[in-house]
Amino acid sequence: MTSEQALALLGGSKTVEKPFSKYNTMGVAEKEAAIKVIESGNLSAFIARHGEFFNGGENVKGFERECETFFNVKHAITVNSWTSGLIVAVGAIDIEPGDEIIVSPWTMSASATAILHWNAIPVFADIEENTFCLDPKSIEANITPYTKAIMVVDIFGQSANMLEIMEIAKRHNLKIISDTAQAPGAIYNGRHAGTIGDIGGFSLNYHKHIHTGEGGVIVTNDDGLAEKCRLIRNHAEAILEDRPEADLTNMVGYNFRLGEIECAIGREQLKKLPSLIKKRQDAALKLNDGLKDLKGLQIPRVEPNSTHVYYVYSMILDIEETGVQKEKIAEALRAEGMAAISTKYVNVHQLPIFQNKIAYGSKGFPWSADFCKRDVSYEKGICPIAENLQETSYLGFGMCQFDLDDQDLKNIISAFQKVWANLDRLK
Ligand SMILES: Cc1ncc(COP(=O)(O)O)c(C=O)c1O
Repeated sequence: MTSEQALALLGGSKTVEKPFSKYNTMGVAEKEAAIKVIESGNLSAFIARHGEFFNGGENVKGFERECETFFNVKHAITVNSWTSGLIVAVGAIDIEPGDEIIVSPWTMSASATAILHWNAIPVFADIEENTFCLDPKSIEANITPYTKAIMVVDIFGQSANMLEIMEIAKRHNLKIISDTAQAPGAIYNGRHAGTIGDIGGFSLNYHKHIHTGEGGVIVTNDDGLAEKCRLIRNHAEAILEDRPEADLTNMVGYNFRLGEIECAIGREQLKKLPSLIKKRQDAALKLNDGLKDLKGLQIPRVEPNSTHVYYVYSMILDIEETGVQKEKIAEALRAEGMAAISTKYVNVHQLPIFQNKIAYGSKGFPWSADFCKRDVSYEKGICPIAENLQETSYLGFGMCQFDLDDQDLKNIISAFQKVWANLDRLK
């Protein structure tokens, strides 16, 4: 019995001997699609002028139309990263310097820095323990006269509580941007996560379920927002002179375009998304079954109206029940061969840029500017649930990256069971 064996940390043998295989989802179809683009000699058809190629070439447009069908949304707009996509989205909602956007602290930094990019001010609300996504009550408590939008992050593979968040947004006349980088294909109340608010989108970086190396896709059902996104993506400033009636708000354009090779690959990857999600969901169900009875370990919770696509398999420890701190448990699991166990995610408000309130130059801009109308706090204590998860109770397994077979899953379960059977020895 595994449980009777000595912990690897205390000199016993490892449970997980073989490193897990990493997913390689690039196959013959992606290779052929990329070669076809290379042979055409036209690796990007974009032109920053009015006309047929303002919105890209055959594969850019083809991939966008296929994303629209897949995600059941009116507009899909590709970008060269989802960080670019977030910057575009914040610009498109006509943000003004000094406006506030409420954002989750439990996310990758780009959700918040995209706000700073336009000299707007990120305000961090706390998260719900069940989903690790923004807590509607905390959103409401953080609304001020300066709040313009809510940046919802569908973190780890599951949607935020959009029914309540939409209702709050409606009541306070706020826009919603969804950062669904980690949850493409997750369903919430019958709709794709990312398509429920005003603008959303997905990352196509190489850690994600499907990827193009780097890249992103913005999605929206709003024609006006879609047009602004396309303009910001492709040098808006250069094409607006012959449109005197044009709205110039945030039309400093960029080159955030995704190329033909990436989009040709993206078209093939998109076909694989349902099966790649299913594989993670099947693996998570097996892990749930093996781990659900370990005392003091909370397996991922999936809300009744949601599906989860398991970018991260997220667990919560009850330290009073385990009697052992999470760092010690993680150390024991890593010694068993579970290298990908993490005890931390991100508390963005704790990053130096927010602690020191310096984003541009060295004098505290934008917080020091006259347009920043109040003193926004990033002190420890503003997001107690996110902070407590980070410090004491969160345990994560980045399962999206691994192509786990049944033996791997059995080994993972055995490693946890062994550590739990030996918790007394870790005290
Ligand atoms: C939640 C979240 N937001 C934004 C991003 C940024 O995406 P990208 O790497 O495509 O720029 C990521 C990337 O990991 C992410 O996980």
